[in-house]
Amino acid sequence: MTQEILQVSPLPPFMMNALQEADYIVHDHTHIKDPGALSKVTAIIGMGSAKVDKKLLTMLPHVKLIAICGVGYDGVDVATCKEKGIVVTHTPGVLTDDVADLAMGLVLSIGRRIPQADKFVRNGDWVDDAFNLTHKVSGARLGLVGMGRIGSAIAKRAEAFDMRITYTGREAKADLPYAFCTTAVDLAAQVDYLVVAVPGGDDTKNLINAHVLQALGSKGYLINIARGSVVDQPVLVQALKDKTIAGAALDVYWDEPIIDPELRRLPNVVLTPHIASATVETRQAMAALTLDNLQAFFDGRALPTPVPECQ
Ligand code: 8YV
Repeated sequence: MTQEILQVSPLPPFMMNALQEADYIVHDHTHIKDPGALSKVTAIIGMGSAKVDKKLLTMLPHVKLIAICGVGYDGVDVATCKEKGIVVTHTPGVLTDDVADLAMGLVLSIGRRIPQADKFVRNGDWVDDAFNLTHKVSGARLGLVGMGRIGSAIAKRAEAFDMRITYTGREAKADLPYAFCTTAVDLAAQVDYLVVAVPGGDDTKNLINAHVLQALGSKGYLINIARGSVVDQPVLVQALKDKTIAGAALDVYWDEPIIDPELRRLPNVVLTPHIASATVETRQAMAALTLDNLQAFFDGRALPTPVPECQ
């Protein structure tokens, strides 16, 4: 039977094609005011930053599945989904390498000021002066806020740079060779690069606050490839302006894609547009896993990757 699904974020063309080839009818937000269409929708599909709140769920009485094409699903009201018997799936694993690669890229970019050096050459400034010296990344101290799949993959890469790795998280992991800190403040005080790799949502909102940034100090860098909500952004902007931290490299923000103009003007930041998983290979793998979840659900098979709360 042809299933009708609602897309709540723009989807890559190869995903749209695959959905159409698999015979799904895909509605987008322009149908949201059409009660006839809404009552036929049985599943929702969206990218990692998709918002699926109680209000939307109330408008879709027959939805039974939310398939998120992303590892993060903090925009989905999972508690309401569970009350209504709606299952949520996501795409863990397939994007881990890309996200860890970008995290290391950002460590190197902000530490060695690669984008600033690029600008220096393009502007013709080299003719008059040498580029300011930076600080060595190899052998520096790296702190991970979060030691899940992505945190571990970042640590593995940082090991190849002989970095000294410390982490914080819900609990110490006995099988890891890295030192554990119980709080983000303690961790920040001990490292040169503080990398945020925890899920978004209420539990981690503003986890990186004024105390953490103060502990990181004027020689420390903040890197965020997780969710904008994990960092208190106005506090971060102030710390960068006052140079109470050395710099920040960010892939995620509050209210993205609208970026605080003050942040955009700062010289001691590297800013990327939420591209950690944005490679052709990984986005195709994410799309394939999302479709597998969708298909398994409608075939009545076990779901490949339900979110932990729905397992
Ligand atoms: C994507 C993400 O950028 O996996 C996540 O949680 O945020 C990213 O992989 C996102 O799905 C695209 O909107």
